[in-house]
Amino acid sequence: MDKPRNPAPDAAGEHPLRKDEFRAFQDLIHRESGIFLADHKQALLGGRLHSRLRALGLATYGDYFKAVQKDEAERIEMLDRISTNETHFFREPHQFEFLKTRVLPRWMEDARAGTRSRSIRIWSAACSTGEEPYSIAMLLLDQLPASEGWSIEILATDLSTRVLQRAKDAVWRIEKAEEIPTPYLKAFMLQGTGPEQGKMKAGPEIRSLVTFSRMNLNSRPYPVPGGFDLIFCRNVLIYFNAATKVNVVEELLAHLSPAGLLFLGHAESLHGLTERARSVGPTIYAPLQSTYFSGQKLPRLR
Ligand SMILES: C[S@@+](CC[C@H](N)C(=O)[O-])C[C@H]1O[C@@H](n2cnc3c(N)ncnc32)[C@H](O)[C@@H]1O
Repeated sequence: MDKPRNPAPDAAGEHPLRKDEFRAFQDLIHRESGIFLADHKQALLGGRLHSRLRALGLATYGDYFKAVQKDEAERIEMLDRISTNETHFFREPHQFEFLKTRVLPRWMEDARAGTRSRSIRIWSAACSTGEEPYSIAMLLLDQLPASEGWSIEILATDLSTRVLQRAKDAVWRIEKAEEIPTPYLKAFMLQGTGPEQGKMKAGPEIRSLVTFSRMNLNSRPYPVPGGFDLIFCRNVLIYFNAATKVNVVEELLAHLSPAGLLFLGHAESLHGLTERARSVGPTIYAPLQSTYFSGQKLPRLR
């Protein structure tokens, strides 16, 4: 078969991403990250990688593919460019309401009765720029203060080093403050001044609860200890195909405490992926053997 030729350079003198090059990236990205880029994403991929080709002085996407194959750091750079990182503070508000009204009161009651520890471990498994783990930190610190003996650890992981750095910096433009309930904003966020005018930063109380680390959900076994009280894996399963979803969910459930809860995104569900968990609220799941939330009448969402 004839080797496909590069199409003629466009007006800017550059070669567009060819179908066979797209296929090679599609396959590599899927193997590496579990993210499946459907065929209609060809132009999007070209757009996201284009500036990297320029920065490296490469003429074609085929040349860039060779660079990515050879060099792990370049693969990480590429994955940074293709991941979609949209996130908000207190996203999926009904889940925070569920935690506040159903889960935390139960933990407090059990801790008072001496039937549960006051050490809480939470995992935000695709944390993006940090809005998710810091929202959890604000709610939990408000409800379970250290002065009452509670100790909270939040592990926040993501595939993308770029978003992890932003999450560690914990600085956002001030407009993001609108996503945060006022009492939490006043208690836990700092307002930028001088050159930081127009920005806000997470305060030390919530920053000290969260540890960040790069972790690929598509690479098993996960290098984190199990027994999490809560796992948030929200708005990332949607990028995976069914086989990858099954593997990821199995591994997440293996890292959940028997009395723990798994939170997914609004367009995600465990339906058809596992028999080992059941729904205890919209997009909230408990291990099947858990008796922790069994028989509970769930509250109406407000
Ligand atoms: C749309 S954001 C969701 C952020 C947050 N969980 C939320 O719901 O607001 C999806 C995140 O998943 C991350 N991601 C994609 N593939 C991943 C993988 N294989 N392992 C870990 N994180 C991944 C992306 O880098 C991105 O930050």
